[in-house]
Amino acid sequence: MTETLAAANPLRAGLRMQRTPEPCTVIIFGATGDLTHRKLVPALYNLQRERFLPPGFSVVGFARRDWSDEFFRESLLHNAQEFSRSGIEAPLWESFAEGVSYVQSAFDDAKGYQTLSKRLNELDEQRGTSGNRLFYLSTPPESYATIIQQLGAAGLAKSSRGGWVRIIVEKPFGRDLFSARALNVEVHKVFDESQVYRIDHYLGKETVQNILVFRFANGIFEPLWDRRYVDHVQITVAETVGVEGRGGYYEHAGALRDMVQNHLMQLLTLTAMEPPIGYRADAVRDEKVKVLRAIRPIAPEQVDRFTVRGQYGLGAAGGQPVPGYRDEQGVARDSNTETYVALQLFIDNWRWAGVPFLLRTGKRLPKRVSEIAIQFRSAPLMLFDSGPLSDIEPNVLAIQVQPDEGITLRFDSKVPGQANQIRPVTMDFRYNAAFGVESPEAYERLLLDAMLGDSTLFTRSDEVEASWSLITPIHQGWESNTPPAFPNYDAGTWGPKEADKLLEREWRSWRRL
Ligand code: BG6
Repeated sequence: MTETLAAANPLRAGLRMQRTPEPCTVIIFGATGDLTHRKLVPALYNLQRERFLPPGFSVVGFARRDWSDEFFRESLLHNAQEFSRSGIEAPLWESFAEGVSYVQSAFDDAKGYQTLSKRLNELDEQRGTSGNRLFYLSTPPESYATIIQQLGAAGLAKSSRGGWVRIIVEKPFGRDLFSARALNVEVHKVFDESQVYRIDHYLGKETVQNILVFRFANGIFEPLWDRRYVDHVQITVAETVGVEGRGGYYEHAGALRDMVQNHLMQLLTLTAMEPPIGYRADAVRDEKVKVLRAIRPIAPEQVDRFTVRGQYGLGAAGGQPVPGYRDEQGVARDSNTETYVALQLFIDNWRWAGVPFLLRTGKRLPKRVSEIAIQFRSAPLMLFDSGPLSDIEPNVLAIQVQPDEGITLRFDSKVPGQANQIRPVTMDFRYNAAFGVESPEAYERLLLDAMLGDSTLFTRSDEVEASWSLITPIHQGWESNTPPAFPNYDAGTWGPKEADKLLEREWRSWRRL
């Protein structure tokens, strides 16, 4: 496979790609749910298809519904046909499905865990999985503590056969600082931190991993990456979708918990962190935690100055009328949950003192686009007229996370002709054009890393708490203030006007995307 790709694209020549974990079983709690069907199983299938999985690899689904092994496999296949990025090849699926089975149980029923334990031992015998186990919590978060306690009580947190046992915990990890701390305490009663993989699927995206490569494998960017050259940084994660039938969950989350605490904070830490002493899990995570600790917290009484929240009303998406948030299923008619948030943050360290980090995310915005834009300071002295003919703009390095993944550098250039007319132009790198292959899904990389025991792309306990300690005071401030008059932006627009004002007071503006 490597050879064919290399022949097709010289940029891939010489890449050594194969990393195969030891034979193991992945046990998915909440196996009848959406995430398992749309993301986890298609990701595992694609890993198998690309020969990243070991022989004997097995999956056990664990959930409350009364399903048989056969029904579980059928249901997975049905969804994988729709959601697998590479489609499904029947013989490959059959060999994958041979290793898939189902255990029906309530999450708090000790008997279910005995059945599970027996099944895992059988798989060790029959398929050679050697006691290696990866648990995956893909249930509503209220069940996390129960499942962890039950795993501990059933003796499943340690392998009886000298294999490894790890656990992946889906987001949200807590809903504020206090609940995140309490959950960490529960987790650590049963699992050692080295066994715990808190997932943030943004870290599995190629473009997000490339932030560190871009910064630290190249010599020319890092000297410019600080307060002397950077005017400000904008991080945008814009979505066109609404709450997609997840109103019940979203009502208790809101954009700050759903997107900022995890995904945007990850983008920010990777952009702002110091070079780690090595590309190793703890070295990388140490530096990320330092950034989070250096961010100046927004105190509850400062929320009006540094934060903006919004909620979409009736509007349009893709040319079609769409309902406002309050009319979505599972949402209260007088809901004050935010579907948009903008923040101005400062990182109080030597590298970034005084440089605003401007974050925004929202649902039902006009375009699906996630990017990190480093806006550099203007040239110190302008020799050229920026008269009506010219349009001189500061340099921007934009890392486009999705879609149309790539990196562009904007600089000013002379328009050919007799006049000194100047216009911004861009230098473009696109993954598609350079590498000619489709990027794997985020969950593929993360599942593979967890099986390999590499936690670099997972969140450590102190990191998740440091992030919540910035988010919780904002919620406290919002709760004690009168909420804005929601809805305050129409579906299909770029969010509330107040978000523009947040930047305008310092003569800046959001990038037009
Ligand atoms: C999830 C959020 O974590 O990320 C969703 O719960 C959001 O609300 C999704 O839509 C966005 O992920 P992606 O990969 O589509 O950018």
